[in-house]
Amino acid sequence: MCGIFAYLNYLTPKSRLEVLDLLVTGLKRLEYRGYDSTGVAIDSPDSKNIVMVKRMGKVKVLEDAIQEHFTGGEYSEPVATHIGIAHTRWATHGEPCERNSHPQRSDEGNGFVVVHNGIITNYNDVKTFLRKRGYEFESETDTEVFAKLVHHLWKTHPTYSFRELVEQAILQLEGAFAVAVKSKHFPGECVAARRSSPLLVGIKTKTRLATDHIPILYGKDDKKQTSDQDADSGKPQVLPRSDSTSEFMPLEEKEVEYFFASDASAVIEHTNRVIYLEDDDVAAVRDGTLSIHRLKKSLDDPHAREITTLKMEIQQIMKGNYDYFMQKEIFEQPDSVVNTMRGRVRFDGNAIVLGGIKDYIPEIKRCRRLMLIGCGTSYHSAVATRQLLEELTELPVMVELASDFLDRNTPIFRDDVCFFISQSGETADTLMALRYCKQRGALIMGITNTVGSSICRESHCGVHINAGPEIGVASTKAYTSQFISLVMFALVMSEDRLSLQQRRLEILQALSNLADQIRKVLKLDSKVQELAKDLYQHKSLLIMGRGYNFATCLEGALKVKELTYMHSEGIMAGELKHGPLALVDDSMPVLMIVLRDPVYVKCMNALQQVTSRKGCPIIICEEGDEETKAFSSRSLEIPRTVDCLQGILTVIPMQLLSYHIAVLRGCDVDCPRNLAKSVTVE
Ligand code: M6R
Repeated sequence: MCGIFAYLNYLTPKSRLEVLDLLVTGLKRLEYRGYDSTGVAIDSPDSKNIVMVKRMGKVKVLEDAIQEHFTGGEYSEPVATHIGIAHTRWATHGEPCERNSHPQRSDEGNGFVVVHNGIITNYNDVKTFLRKRGYEFESETDTEVFAKLVHHLWKTHPTYSFRELVEQAILQLEGAFAVAVKSKHFPGECVAARRSSPLLVGIKTKTRLATDHIPILYGKDDKKQTSDQDADSGKPQVLPRSDSTSEFMPLEEKEVEYFFASDASAVIEHTNRVIYLEDDDVAAVRDGTLSIHRLKKSLDDPHAREITTLKMEIQQIMKGNYDYFMQKEIFEQPDSVVNTMRGRVRFDGNAIVLGGIKDYIPEIKRCRRLMLIGCGTSYHSAVATRQLLEELTELPVMVELASDFLDRNTPIFRDDVCFFISQSGETADTLMALRYCKQRGALIMGITNTVGSSICRESHCGVHINAGPEIGVASTKAYTSQFISLVMFALVMSEDRLSLQQRRLEILQALSNLADQIRKVLKLDSKVQELAKDLYQHKSLLIMGRGYNFATCLEGALKVKELTYMHSEGIMAGELKHGPLALVDDSMPVLMIVLRDPVYVKCMNALQQVTSRKGCPIIICEEGDEETKAFSSRSLEIPRTVDCLQGILTVIPMQLLSYHIAVLRGCDVDCPRNLAKSVTVE
């Protein structure tokens, strides 16, 4: 997904080269989101023009181009105030190429330059409007429309402030987006805005900030009067300024640096003080003062935006001694699962408290059904825990892919409890499904890994999975932590069910051993690497299992697909003879999960169906299960745990396998082609 990073220094002198360095570092932190091209814009040495550099490919390519381009001594001279904007683009409109990279500009003179995430859905109409007024387009992007529309408004409304121009442009646009805009006509100013695409503002000052909140403003700038033209035909009316904000101080600092970014990983090394912008917020910096404005006034708007203190450490997002973030994240799982349970599970008293939902438990217990909604890996965590949720809550549990759920206009009732599972908390389909259910009066519970994310903020209650930042596009530790969060929820719901106490104790006992058992599974790494050597030149891999391990098959196949670009399919073993068995012969790679759980006999049956068609499956079985192992020359033995938690241990060899195959095939492990970490478009 695209990434925005912008930096503004006010009375904190920095040379343009230093600014460029900051911009490039910011882009590097956003690389994990997935992208195909990059670009930056800064002021020219005389500050009268804007210089842009854009490149196809990785941030490193841009960095090299910057070193070649900005060689003059004037770029090393400190400037008191400056604004630079930067972008990683993931193509949606127009092929990946320099012309389509951001920043996009308003005119040949680079009057206004824009970096943009998301999609402007009515860009064709706006393009037609602008073409009729003489504008020529040089890219195929929807973004260029934004830059040119601001330029058109500037020409027709010469008295508008920069912020008003951007606001008026946004009011004409439809879709989901975030933008940061720079202009040579408004030096030292930056305007950024969001509508359904994440954006935050980081604030760095030398001394402690005098306020924890920034007031929300409505309406026109008091420094400039708008002309009669403002009442322009058909233009949305600018709202009058609200009086109710006086209790909060505006942020007027003498020396201050501002960072605008798509997520916190890009700003955390500079500051831990951030404001998460909400939909229809416009943040503007002018004369070093940050103000936040609302495009539309709504009755439930708060009076101010809070300045949040981030708890994330820079080390948390660095690779450490690992070759790839994904590898690091797989090996972090003994710790991340403990972090998910920390402060929540009391193994001595067999009690579980989930602070984010405890006040809602009585309401949840009265509900009609539970609906678990997510995409990709997050959806698989719902598949993995559905059976246990049904058993321990004794409620109907529906598991839904967010996109399909929306396509079907699924009926939702006021007494439904809807879970929205998302690592990023920003996935557009999941967020849309959340809003759909909220409008219909359901109780909304967020299960996310990203504090302050949209799903987090828009939920009534929720559980933070606390897995720590996940940078690799392929989700690993978030899956196991989502899994555990849902198991903890099931345990909370069954606390007062006498008949379920024995089962609860068994699960709690297993949870307490989980970290050690994961460590043991991770020791299989070199064995898995050897298996990867057998598999990496094949075209396909079938992964079969059933019961509690079916989700591992789906998740394993997704990992193989996204990381290795091989075909892979997760097959419910019970379905084998209804079609997939036809794929099996002596050359088709097959992996089967056969554990000593309630479906063991059925899994053995499937195993025999495969071997009798000359299939040579790799088997994942329980430690010491010689009988099952005897069916194959290649097996991976994992420790025994309670049936409903086995999926946590069986998924780890799948994560390792896909990782090793990807390395052997020379694939980009952390940023697989065509994919993005956070999918903020539908
Ligand atoms: O951030 P989310 O959990 O909402 O993301 C959902 C999917 O896009 C995500 O899990 C995706 O399937 C992963 N790349 C799979 O590894």
